Formats: sequence, C-alpha cells, structure tokens
Amino acid sequence: MRKAQPYINGKWIDSNRQIVPVKSPYSGEVIGEQWFSTAEDVENALKSAYEAKKEIARIPSYERAKILKKAAMLLENEKEKFARLISLELGKPLKNTLDEVSRSIETLEQSAEEAKRLMGETIPGDASKRGTKAMAMTFRVPVGVVAAITPFNAPLNLICHKIGPAFAAGNSIILKPAPQTPLIATELLKLLLEAGFPERGINMVLGGVEVGQQIVKDDRVNVISFTGGVVASRNICELAGMKKVLLELGGNAATIVHEDADLQRAAALCAKTGYSNSGQSCISVQRIYVHQSVVEPFTQLLKEEVAKLKIGDPLLPDTDVGCLVDEMAAERVMDWIEEALKSGAKLIFGGKKHGATVEPTILLNPPKHSKVVCQEVFGPVVSIIPYQTIEEAIEEANDSSFGLQAGLFTNQIDLAYKVAHELEVGGVVINGTSNFRLDHWPYGGVKNSGIGREGPRYAIEEMTELKMIVFQIPE
Ligand code: SIN
Repeated sequence: MRKAQPYINGKWIDSNRQIVPVKSPYSGEVIGEQWFSTAEDVENALKSAYEAKKEIARIPSYERAKILKKAAMLLENEKEKFARLISLELGKPLKNTLDEVSRSIETLEQSAEEAKRLMGETIPGDASKRGTKAMAMTFRVPVGVVAAITPFNAPLNLICHKIGPAFAAGNSIILKPAPQTPLIATELLKLLLEAGFPERGINMVLGGVEVGQQIVKDDRVNVISFTGGVVASRNICELAGMKKVLLELGGNAATIVHEDADLQRAAALCAKTGYSNSGQSCISVQRIYVHQSVVEPFTQLLKEEVAKLKIGDPLLPDTDVGCLVDEMAAERVMDWIEEALKSGAKLIFGGKKHGATVEPTILLNPPKHSKVVCQEVFGPVVSIIPYQTIEEAIEEANDSSFGLQAGLFTNQIDLAYKVAHELEVGGVVINGTSNFRLDHWPYGGVKNSGIGREGPRYAIEEMTELKMIVFQIPE
C-alpha cells in the first residue's frame, strides 16, 4: 500500500494519525493512504523549519545548486514512474503527466542555475548631494521560512516551482500539498532527500484547510507561496498578518482569433490546450473571441479537432482527455454547461458526463453573465464568442475579474502589439493560446489572478530580501 505521511524534523511520522484512503478518481479504486497531520505535527514542522533556517542559509549556493541538479537527474531517471503515479492519483492523461515530469525536471534545473546568480549591485552615493562620500552594495538574502501550499492540478511541477526557488535562495521550507495528491508529493520528497536535501530544510504536513490555516497564521513563516482558488487566497490574506503572500490564482483565459488568423492552427491549438488535463489549468483556453466573419469556419475546424481527442483511461498512452479530480467537480461543470444552455448558448460538441469524466465540450455564444464565461470553469469546456471589432474583443476579454494569460491569433504585427498592450493580463501569447508556459518565464497575473510572479528567477526575487550595506568614506 502506498503511504503519504507527514515528514517533520527529519523523520517520517509513522503512528497514530487519522488515515484517509487515496482513491483513483478514474476507477474509484483505493491506491494508497494518507496520514493527516495533527495540530501538534504542524507546530513541530513550523518549529523545525524555523530552527533550521540559519543552517540552510549557511549552505553555499554551489552546494544548493548541486542538490537541485541531482534532484533533477534522479527525476529524469524515474520519469515514467512519476508520470504514472500522477495519472493514477489525479486522472491526468499520461501524455500530459510525462510532459509535467519533463517540465518539473527543467524547473529544478533552472532553480539550480539561478541559485548561483543571487546577485546585487553597487550604487554610488553621488547621485545625492549628501552622498558624495558614500556608496552602497546590495545583496539578496534568504527570507527565512517559506510556506509552500500547492494545488492538485499540476501536483509535481507546481511543488517544484515553490521548493526549487525557495531552496535555491537559501530558505527552509514547510510544504502542504493538496489533499487530493499527497502520494506524488511524498515521492518527490523522498527523491529530494536522496538528492541531498538537508533533512530539516524541508518539512511536509498533510491535511485540509485547518492545516493550511495554522501555517498561514504562524509568525515563524516569512513568505507564503500559494497556488489555488480566489476564496482560499482571500482567507490566507486575512490570516497572514504582515507576512509576504505570493498568490498564483485562477483565470477564465481568453484567446482571440482575428479575421486574418491561420484558422487551422488556431483550431488545432485551442483543441490541444483547452482540454488537456480536462481543462484543469489556470490558463486553460476558456473563452475564444472569434471575429464574426470567421466564426463559422473556425467553429467547424475546432469541432473536427475536438472530435479527434481520445477520451478514456488516463494511464493509456493515447488518451487525450482523462477525468476531473473527482465526481463532484464533474457534476459542478455539468451544472455550469446546463446553465449556459438554458440561457441561450448552443451546444456544438460534447456536453455529457461519465463518472468523473466530462466530454470535451464546445459552446457557442453563451451569454456574458453565464458562469462558463465569467467564472473559472476548471473543466473541459470552451466557449466561442463572436466579435465585430478588435476593440470589442479587447473590451470583452478584459471584462473579467481575472487576468492571468491570454492568446491572440493574427498575422498583423501592429495589431498584435496593440492587443498585447491593451489586454489586462500577466502575459500574452501571439499566435498561440493562453495556455502556453515555459517554466523559466515570469508567470503570474493581475486582478484576482494573483500577486507576484513564479518562474525560478522571479520567485527567487520574491523569496529573498534586498539587503544593503553602506560605506561612508571618512573625511
Ligand atoms: C496553473 O494551473 O497555473 C499551471 C499552469 C502551467 O504550469 O502550465
């Protein structure tokens, strides 16, 4: 039986905890068990992380880089094993999970490289009349303890995106993975320890909201790095007090298909990136604004592309669409589809549920206020919404409480530049969809999509303090 257990102060906790079965969302079969942390466990984990922070900060950056590089190498050797476990635990197709493991390797490698680039600058004082006899130097120093609270949808890479930069920067870590995916977090932790991660440099606690709240409230934590939903993030901000909070939240990502676009390319990419991991990505293609003159051919092409997607067992190598994280999530997505249809949307494809699996669904023209348009679906549902002018498309795309990433298909460079500047998001992909991310790029959003940026170089900036040393030259 696979086991996910808390890891505290260098030891796996192995007795007397509430044991919760871990089930495959696709088959319903029990695939392991997780041992929920008690309040005492969380306290011990916080104490251990706090006490270890000086020890971790003293490890030279070449050593931290070496450990992260070794972790990447070990993961490379076990790629298939890790991918299969994510598919089993989450229902995410093997095609996507092999990709996720490859990305996680890169995230660790890039964190290793960035560990050696923690640089500051020298700032002459003479820009001020009072500073002609002074100069300053800046250094990047670790914040101390980073709390990583991670989601289920990319359960390996999104942990690597937090612990990679946190350790690269010289911090100690307390990790709380999503309760839906504790097994993969456990396997990663074992691998990190094998790579030479200092035993007290990382603590892991398991459980739900209460465990997260206890961490967030605690003043021994310096930075909270959270990926998840808006409601939870507001709660975190209320409880965190003066701590720095980094938030990677959701979106209802828009992609614009202009009249001059390569429609075949646009349709193929929207099909590929609107339904991967059953739409459970914060940048999954959700709203496609299509110029009125090409709505018909684009809809037809998208339908043909979506019809090619294979739905089924996430562990089979040719499956494109697996299931959602659980049946409740699938039921919620079905309710939203129904609401859109009742309020006037046209069903172009899909629209049915089988267990926790929802068929890849295309809706045409759902109204602006329907949930599939204005909220985050986090399911395999894509809506086509016609527009007349590019200004209208920009306005509609921006009419959202979110702003993570957006896509635009056009062959006009001036139009691409204008749209990219006017869209209120963290990143715009030209001739691609919203759902394209390389792990070393800055990733994050505006509005309700979050605060701060991930991507090892950018996360390291967030997880370090700028320390200044001033020299005054005596007369
Ligand atoms: C997310 O859901 O924010 C992660 C998307 C990705 O890394 O591709």
